Formats: sequence, C-alpha cells, structure tokens
Amino acid sequence: MTHHILNVNPQKGTIGHKIYSFLSLNSTNDVAAELARSDALHGTMVIAKIQTQGRGRGKNVWYSDWGGLYISIVLKPALSREQILPLSLVIANSVAKAIAAVTKIEIKTKWVNDLMIEQPLRKLGGILLETEGVSEPPDFFIAGIGINVNQTQFPTDEPITSLRLITQRKISRWQLVIIISQELEKDYQLFVKSNFLPFREEYKRRCLLLNRFISIIVGDNQYKGEVIDIDEKGRLVLLTSDKQIEKFAFGHILLEKDVP
Ligand code: BTN
Repeated sequence: MTHHILNVNPQKGTIGHKIYSFLSLNSTNDVAAELARSDALHGTMVIAKIQTQGRGRGKNVWYSDWGGLYISIVLKPALSREQILPLSLVIANSVAKAIAAVTKIEIKTKWVNDLMIEQPLRKLGGILLETEGVSEPPDFFIAGIGINVNQTQFPTDEPITSLRLITQRKISRWQLVIIISQELEKDYQLFVKSNFLPFREEYKRRCLLLNRFISIIVGDNQYKGEVIDIDEKGRLVLLTSDKQIEKFAFGHILLEKDVP
C-alpha cells in the first residue's frame, strides 16, 4: 500500500503532526491500529481516498468510494474505556463545527455520534471510536471519522447525503482535514482536563434527539420514551413510557417514525 506522509501541524504529538495519506486501503481504523501497535505517537493520522472494508458501528458497512473523507487518528490518553466514552460525542461536535466552518451548513448530531443534516433528515457522517486488548487503560484508542464529501451517488437508498449534494459545489477534503485537526486538537486538550462538561451545552444544542420520542436498542432490550437530557457524562436521559428515568451510555437509536 503506497502512501505519502504529510502534516497539518509541525508540533510532535499533536493531532495531525504526521498524516499517512493513502489512495486505497482496507480500513483507516485498521491501518491506524497497526501503526499504534508499532509505537506511532498520539495524534498520528491515516487518511484514504477509498476504503475497501470501511466499517460503521455495529456490523454496518461504511460506503467508502471516491469523494468521501476517511480519517483515523491514534489517541493515547491515560484514560479508561469508561472515561473515554464521551469523547466520541466531543469528536462528533468538533467535526460538526469544522464542517460548518468550511461549508456554512448547519450540522446536527444524532446521539451518540452520527453527523446529520435536517430537512430532509439525512446522514452525512459518523464516528467510530475503537480500542483493542484487555489492559486498562488501553494502550491506544482509534478515532475513525467518515464524512460524505463529494460523492454524488450512493449504492443504497438509505437516507444519506454528501456535502456536495447539499451545497452543489465541490468541497476541499484537504481543507476539511486541516480544520478538523485544529478543532480536535483544541477540544481533545480540554476533554482530557475537564471531560464532557465544557461540551455539554453545545452538544445539546446540536443534538436533534432532545425532546423527541425515540426507541433505543441496547443488546436485546428496547426502551421507548422521550429524550429529556444529555447528562454531564454524555449519557442519553430517557423518560420512558412508564415514567421511569433511564440513562444510557450507548445504544442504537430509532426515531419515532422508524419505531415498529
Ligand atoms: C458510523 O456512523 O457507523 C461510524 C462510521 C465511521 C466510518 C469511518 S471512515 C474512517 C474509519 N475507518 C473505518 O473503517 N470506519 C471509520
């Protein structure tokens, strides 16, 4: 797999200080994990024009043709799996800010970490935060970011879209990489110091689930109710149909109209 090495920030150990840029690979998350295992520093990034085995959350495939932006970042915080959970909300928020800065489009998030646009509601991107092994804290985390940038068609009729389809213009993937790296560097530093609290209000403003009726699937269980809050740990707070308050750190969301 041939690649170039680039950077968007000269300072070692910052996000984007070293970027491995590929034409095609299996999954940027897998290549970033390989690099992390062989001692790549915190902040090392992998980007690709095509992924042959792009993954989404759960067992989903992530369509990874030409035109999309596929990024993975090696993160090496001294944080446990539990402490890191809200970081995927923070990353979704940082990426939403960066896309809005480049395109002027209002980006929403669908908890946990889907990037969405409204009217009509379509998915634009997502975050996949992964780790491996059993040690606690883990040796590294990999933050995968997928954004539909310049694609004009998708091999599915799921409700997804791209920045190009919305703006009717070609968007610079490289400009997005630069702004995303800057936003993430700033937000990551603050997260390590203060966790989710400083991001909570902004996340809530962007989150399109607040005050909506949803269904959440966690393992074999399904809960229905109204989303009344995102708490200080980034958990979704649900007022269930039988008037109980339940908090979820993860789960798969169905909006009311999709609930069977
Ligand atoms: C989701 O919404 O399900 C998360 C999608 C994450 C996709 C990105 S693309 C870059 C990185 N490499 C992968 O294989 N997946 C993530």
